[in-house]
Amino acid sequence: MHNPQLNRNGELQHLLTIEGLPRDIITAILDTAVPFTEVAEREVKKLPLLRGKSVFNLFFESSTRTRTTFEIAAKRLSADVINLNITTSSTTKGETLLDTIDNLCAMQADMFVVRHASSGAPYLIAQHLSAIGRDDIHVINAGDGRHAHPTQGLLDMYTIRHYKKDFTGLTVAVVGDILHSRVARSQIHALTTLGVPEVRVIGPKTLLPAEVEKLGVHVFHDMRAGLKDVDVVMMLRLQNERMQGALLPSPQEFFKYYGLTLDKLELAKPDAIVMHPGPMNRGVEIDSAVADGPHAVILPQVTFGIAVRMAVMSILAAH
Ligand code: CP
Repeated sequence: MHNPQLNRNGELQHLLTIEGLPRDIITAILDTAVPFTEVAEREVKKLPLLRGKSVFNLFFESSTRTRTTFEIAAKRLSADVINLNITTSSTTKGETLLDTIDNLCAMQADMFVVRHASSGAPYLIAQHLSAIGRDDIHVINAGDGRHAHPTQGLLDMYTIRHYKKDFTGLTVAVVGDILHSRVARSQIHALTTLGVPEVRVIGPKTLLPAEVEKLGVHVFHDMRAGLKDVDVVMMLRLQNERMQGALLPSPQEFFKYYGLTLDKLELAKPDAIVMHPGPMNRGVEIDSAVADGPHAVILPQVTFGIAVRMAVMSILAAH
């Protein structure tokens, strides 16, 4: 089946999801990001790879990390960056998403970075661009509903490779609200594609998708059992904005059973790293002593995100 994010030559045309993305493309993105880390850390100022290009940030949902790091990444590649203010845009007057896109195309857009509450919105835009013959414009999914957050998944893989060097001997646990998490889906697809032999998901039954095992993961409802001897702990936020009905007794009870505390972390390997995509809810899914402790790599994840987003944009712009 044709992969809608690849062009006829099998090159990355859009970045919509990690599901089905070939391993060599994922690895190429991670490899490309390595020298960009120096730019992200401001050891090198700017590169001209996107000079003359216009990157439009279209965030229909709130964001701190993703929107800002995409903006920094595009600017470090010398692009012009336009942040559409959705709350004051004509979408509030009833303009459709695709009419907005047509108008931005008329402003000579080269790349759209899209976050949307509806799963599939970035696909819709990519399909539309193809239908109107604008295959020169690229779409990057910055998080759509509960479906996918591919650049988060990629920066998480970059972080793991940075600290652990190799994926093929690792045990990785993804903990918390898997059901509503686009981040978890992207992480699981990336981990299994990159050859992690043991991917665990840990959470209550009410926060795990039906048949999650089909994604190639082992399910644990007991967090202490699930954390035993893991190399990497990937915590998730409770996605309250996507929950319908009472899936949890209370945040306090969730913390008791599924919050990462120092005593639970002791069950992991002594050199385990703790990750979180942010925003964090301290005292709900993670204790401050862990979030601010020596195992946490949560802020390096953010810096690596700049380098990984630079890599994605530079690869897309090259085709
Ligand atoms: N991790 C993440 O997507 O964070 P933001 O919502 O702040 O972009």
